Amino acid sequence: MKILVTGGAGFIGSNFIRYWLKKYSDDEIVNLDKLTYAGHLSTTKDFSGNKNYKFIKGDICDSKIVDQAIEGTDMVVHFAAETHVDRSIVGPKTFILTNFVGTQVLLDAAVSHKVKRFHHVSTDEVFGALPLESTEKFNESTLYNPRSPYSASKAGSDHLVRAYHTTYGLPITITNCSNNFGPYSDPEKFIPRMITDLIDGSPVKIYGDGKHVRDWLYVEDHVRAIDAVLQKGKIGETYLVGGLTEDIPNLEVAKKLLKLFGKDESQIKFVPDRLGHDRRYAVDWSKIEKELGWKPEHNFEEWLVKTVNWYKENDWWWKPLKEEADKLYERTGQK
Ligand code: NAD
Ligand code: DAU
Repeated sequence: MKILVTGGAGFIGSNFIRYWLKKYSDDEIVNLDKLTYAGHLSTTKDFSGNKNYKFIKGDICDSKIVDQAIEGTDMVVHFAAETHVDRSIVGPKTFILTNFVGTQVLLDAAVSHKVKRFHHVSTDEVFGALPLESTEKFNESTLYNPRSPYSASKAGSDHLVRAYHTTYGLPITITNCSNNFGPYSDPEKFIPRMITDLIDGSPVKIYGDGKHVRDWLYVEDHVRAIDAVLQKGKIGETYLVGGLTEDIPNLEVAKKLLKLFGKDESQIKFVPDRLGHDRRYAVDWSKIEKELGWKPEHNFEEWLVKTVNWYKENDWWWKPLKEEADKLYERTGQK
């Protein structure tokens, strides 16, 4: 089996390749990645020498390079995207180009090369925000209601993927996943930003009142869910993927980390809120559990500690990226 992975030099894509090469050691993987500010060869260093792995630097919007990369592949697993909501607020254009137009370019190539599966990795943010005071969760029937340029561009890409299935018969599957945490997550995202700030002796930054809720999933569980969908998922179907956290507000996540570092709440800095900040996400993952036998296995408490340890042991990886993240927050006034 030969798989084209897009965005495999980023957080989740690299964790997917690492997992796949280990579990299915006869399969070949081609990783097409533009190496934006979020993609790094340092992230793929531990598997870049694998004989079944090939890297191609290129943009998914470039149909020529996509055509070369997809040649002879059985499956496409599409991670490549602009992914940071704060960046989409200061500059939406690249989000539309990569997430929407780039997906269309890939879909066209997948149709003309007759790939056996096009798996699209998407987000729970396409469903908008849930009220804080509810027990409601997103499920596969929830209506789309994206509220940031990022989530709107991902929502558009989901619709395109389904449209290519209906119109051209492309064999697709989609997963919409909640917030991931774990190794190789960029220090501009919430949990790694706090961990790397605490290692550096800086305060953690909380947007607004800190009562916003995210559904946290350890990255390896996400990768296992994609594996389950690729092996057993039904063509044309969408599966929601979420974690084991029950409504943990951002402020509580910050307090857990402060405790792990032996610091007190004086190390919390409240900064201006994100524009249009979604209040609450929660995912009902019962469909993928019932139909494909997947459920999250890594609990938040234990794997947060392991994630902290990973960042402590791998500052060679995140230190060079921290400056870029800080520059973004200088621009947004959230430093
Ligand atoms: P990331 O930002 O860490 O990595 C994105 C990767 O895509 C980078 O390697 C980057 O270089 C590459 N890329 C960007 N634009 C490209 C282009 N035009 N052509 C080729 N490569 C390009 O992202 P991530 O957190 O690993 O997210 C991967 C996917 O999962 C995304 O589609 C995202 O929407 C989705 N997702 C992420 C999360 C999360 O919590 N991180 C949750 C749910 C879904
Ligand atoms: O829900 C899935 C989504 O999760 C993915 O689709 C996105 O690609 C991914 O970036 C993530 O989006 P969020 O916007 O939820 O993640 P982020 O890490 O940026 O922020 C998490 C929460 O923490 C959010 O409520 C904003 C808040 N926050 C974030 C940062 C960076 C802070 O309070 N302080 C911060 O410094």
